[in-house]
Amino acid sequence: MRNPFIAGSWVRAENFFGRTAILRDVLEGERDSLWVVGARRLGKTSLLKELEHRALQNPQTPFVPLYWDLQGSADARGLADGLLGSVEDSEAFRRATDIAVEDLEGHSVADMLTTLVRRTVRSGWRLLLLIDEAEEFLTVARTDAAVLPRLRRVFQKGNEVRTVLTATRRLAQIDDLPDVATSPFLQGFIPALYLTPLQPEEARALLARGKFSEEEQARIQERTANHPFLLQLIASRLFESRDLAATLDQVAADEMVSNFFSVDFQTLDARERALLEPVARSGEQSLDELARAAAVSKETAETLLFGLRMMGYLSLENGRFRIGNWFFERWLRRVAAAEPRPA
Ligand SMILES: Nc1ncnc2c1ncn2[C@@H]1O[C@H](COP(=O)(O)OP(=O)(O)O)[C@@H](O)[C@H]1O
Ligand SMILES: [Mg+2]
Repeated sequence: MRNPFIAGSWVRAENFFGRTAILRDVLEGERDSLWVVGARRLGKTSLLKELEHRALQNPQTPFVPLYWDLQGSADARGLADGLLGSVEDSEAFRRATDIAVEDLEGHSVADMLTTLVRRTVRSGWRLLLLIDEAEEFLTVARTDAAVLPRLRRVFQKGNEVRTVLTATRRLAQIDDLPDVATSPFLQGFIPALYLTPLQPEEARALLARGKFSEEEQARIQERTANHPFLLQLIASRLFESRDLAATLDQVAADEMVSNFFSVDFQTLDARERALLEPVARSGEQSLDELARAAAVSKETAETLLFGLRMMGYLSLENGRFRIGNWFFERWLRRVAAAEPRPA
């Protein structure tokens, strides 16, 4: 039997598990501007690819999807090139809307989008615009701030477009930039939807593909707290090695995994990191203890801790916060131990 697990690249269709509520909100809900916030490797790209797939498969949907990855775009020109590339890559979109790449070439990104919307509507569809790596807007804002309000106007063209942004929490900084503050970019996209770890039964369905024993399955879920990437990584290695203890040790010591945690940790803001470190040091903490340790008000701590829980960085039981999963806890302990304690 072939290894059924995929750890690294995005997944969709029969390889995609869970996320029922968000899929429903996007494909059948009322909101036309959605920001899905999630940590790295929690499944943002997979979610957008699954949305694209479902919209293309479903003959009843009013939407024609377009997936647009902003990574590396850097400025308005880069956004335009990327958007053109997306249209080029999606034959289904070009066919449904009767658009050719030549119709768009040479235009600014905002004009291009306006044309895309107009042609989509004229063909009897609504545009489902699926924007990945939306943090890139932070970089664009530094070089071409004026393009953002223009884009936002197209993103929020009421009934004609439904826009889904995915990004880590960093995107929230965009409305603090001096050039953007006058017309808040994320207005309408807030409150964000959180991409959480998988539900226990969704994780079980995923692991069932490996035909592992009950005990192995339970232990993987306990160690990963159903983080989709960690689940897939461990399951994939266990599928080859058939030795769970060795696999868990290996993953805990893996350079690639600690690098992943370290880059992910940097997407959090300083106050969020200041809340996580005392939890890692002492194993568990209450809200009051954490507000004191991070030197923030209880209210601020509560808001930040809610987001950290939703994204799987923390869990809460009986009023005590703990680090979300064993691997992240081990990594964070090592990092926290290497730093001087705050006075
Ligand atoms: N819905 C899902 N079902 C199963 N595995 C998933 C799912 N979402 C993410 N994964 C796992 O996480 C990995 C990273 O997913 P990806 O969509 O690339 O995350 P992101 O874009 O947030 O970095 C995938 O390779 C896969 O192992
Ligand atoms: Mg991604």
